[in-house]
Amino acid sequence: MDTIGVGLIGTGYMGKCHALAWMAVRAAFGDGPVVRRAVLCEVEEGLARRRADEFGFEQSTADWTTLVTDPAVDVVSITTPTGLHASMAIAALEAGKHVWCEKPMAPSLADAERMAAAARASGKVAILGYNYIQSPAVRYIGKLLKRGAIGSVTQLRVEMDEDFMADPEQPFTWRSEASSGLGAPDDFAVHPMSLISTLIGMPSEVFGELVKPFPDRPHSTGRRAVETFDIATALLRMEGGATGAIQVSRSAWGRKGRIQLQIFGARGAIFFDQERFNEVGVYLAEGPVEEQGIKTVLMGPAHPPYEHFIPAAGHQLGFNDLKIVEAHELLNRIAGKPSLTIDFDQGLAIERVIRAIGRSHREGRWQRA
Ligand SMILES: NC(=O)c1ccc[n+]([C@@H]2O[C@H](COP(=O)([O-])OP(=O)(O)OC[C@H]3O[C@@H](n4cnc5c(N)ncnc54)[C@H](O)[C@@H]3O)[C@@H](O)[C@H]2O)c1
Repeated sequence: MDTIGVGLIGTGYMGKCHALAWMAVRAAFGDGPVVRRAVLCEVEEGLARRRADEFGFEQSTADWTTLVTDPAVDVVSITTPTGLHASMAIAALEAGKHVWCEKPMAPSLADAERMAAAARASGKVAILGYNYIQSPAVRYIGKLLKRGAIGSVTQLRVEMDEDFMADPEQPFTWRSEASSGLGAPDDFAVHPMSLISTLIGMPSEVFGELVKPFPDRPHSTGRRAVETFDIATALLRMEGGATGAIQVSRSAWGRKGRIQLQIFGARGAIFFDQERFNEVGVYLAEGPVEEQGIKTVLMGPAHPPYEHFIPAAGHQLGFNDLKIVEAHELLNRIAGKPSLTIDFDQGLAIERVIRAIGRSHREGRWQRA
């Protein structure tokens, strides 16, 4: 039986999510290699050891450079703050490891380009943590679009809102540092872009507006000026001719995990919200007018890959399950099988759109994406 050795760097929000995915992927899908949780890295030895015990990793270290060269490691999960992705991913690829790196790629386009180049040169698999494309609902939407259920797409709108930075007294973290990128565009707008690029295609031009709702936040040194944008809006001109809009906010009180997708076509429309991600709304402009309305389709085993988790319809998957699906798609890709993943080249295309939104905001005009 094949075995794959995993190295995990970072054990915060996403680190735990990756650890749970590695623990569950074989149990959920019943195929692929046995996953050996080999080495875990955190900033400090004691924390690394504690997390390794909790997550079932054999070894722990506070030095990621030893993890990425460890012979027991075949694939490296990178779940550290965005500013560290490039150096870690490139070192892992150069050491001959596959890479599963959290989104976004990097705070600068130059670093994202270096990551994509390293992936190409290595011949290894390098994918990004765009988990929202993995849900049964999004796959079902893709199927509807592919068979032309709503006709040609005329307009799409995607909003992504959370409120974890809505309080102006929320302390300053790495997310408000310029070294993490533009802010909401890198942190959030990349997710809508992952859905748009998977379901519809890429924009050819963008117009962006970025906003800092609060000038500063509490910091150990007193108050520190916020360097990133927590709200972003972008108009999109899609390659296929449709018009689109993305609006994202990390400061939207009341919204906890909303990614609202609306796709309008010549013969109908599709509606989806990540806060209720086991449901898809479908409107088809056909049949008697008095019977037309938005139908809610509840996900079940008929909507792959739901069936790998629960045999009963409507019992609902959760956020962490998306990461398990993503781990399975990564293993498929490593095995040379068909795989729904966003690799570093596709990720770079998303980063280019994000940088174009930033340029448009600075220059006040449309930019080629
Ligand atoms: N895919 C998603 O839905 C999603 C959601 C949240 C965050 N993210 C992305 O995941 C990444 C991490 O975000 P997070 O929310 O998990 O952050 P976090 O702050 O919760 O966790 C980061 C972890 O990395 C550790 N770390 C920092 N420097 C390190 C180093 N040199 N060596 C080892 N460990 C180190 C920290 O101690 C911490 O445990 C970011 O790039 C973020 O954009 C993705």
